[in-house]
Amino acid sequence: MKAIVSYRSQNHEFELRDDAAFVGRLKDVIHKNLGLPPQTVKLLAKGKILSDEDRLPGSKIMVIASSPESIEAMKTEAQRQLDIAARRASATHTKGAVKSTKKQSSHYRFHTIEALQHLHEPSKAQKYLERLASDRSIQRLMEKHQLSVGLLTEMDPRLYTTHDSKTLGLNKDGGAEILLRLRTDELDGYRDYRGVKSTLIHELVHNRVPEHPRSFWDLFRDWSAEVESWESGSRVSQSEVYMPQTTDSGVEWTGGSKTLGSGTTKGDVDDRESRARAAERRRQ
Ligand code: NI
Repeated sequence: MKAIVSYRSQNHEFELRDDAAFVGRLKDVIHKNLGLPPQTVKLLAKGKILSDEDRLPGSKIMVIASSPESIEAMKTEAQRQLDIAARRASATHTKGAVKSTKKQSSHYRFHTIEALQHLHEPSKAQKYLERLASDRSIQRLMEKHQLSVGLLTEMDPRLYTTHDSKTLGLNKDGGAEILLRLRTDELDGYRDYRGVKSTLIHELVHNRVPEHPRSFWDLFRDWSAEVESWESGSRVSQSEVYMPQTTDSGVEWTGGSKTLGSGTTKGDVDDRESRARAAERRRQ
């Protein structure tokens, strides 16, 4: 049977013998053709993660590569740029391809929501993520701007903290996965909902714009304002645009010269985030 596999917004077609049409077998084929080791990929169909013993579904299968190292090893910067171009092109096409059944109308959503199972009380984190995903203003934003995310999950704070920075969120592969820092550093509680929600908006903007050029911040400002207006049920003026920056205890970033509740400008956030990202790259 034919399997249509979407990886980084590009479709690949693979032919598998009917008696070997299993997910595990498809992972081998993906390994051979796309160079992604089976243990680093998850396959998703209709928002569900497939296990190796499952028979291949008739629908399109989405590949989520979970190991950044394995992906980066494969890719040159030039290829990355091509992918971005393809992603933009396909973002426009997706809508036409979607059938207009009721189910499909919620294509623009988080297809899978999954807390980290190795941290304390994953059911609480799961509820937190689900609250975000079912937040009406977030849903409205995703519908309006046709944003689709493969997996919404949390990050283990211990993996994303260095002596001078914290990463609050990550968007992998233009929406394949969004990771949010939900828990406090000591893992004894959760960060403030409003702050996390703002990080989510930030990461959703990355579905459109990689990195943080001027256009990124413009879009972030616009979308934050939209969300704000839907929350309050009234339009906000430019000067009242919500530019969230604080979290549970008012500390978003520690160390360096940044301190509690320091005034935050766009460049400021940008600078701090790029330092965080640089720190991440060094660790890899
Ligand atoms: Ni960012």
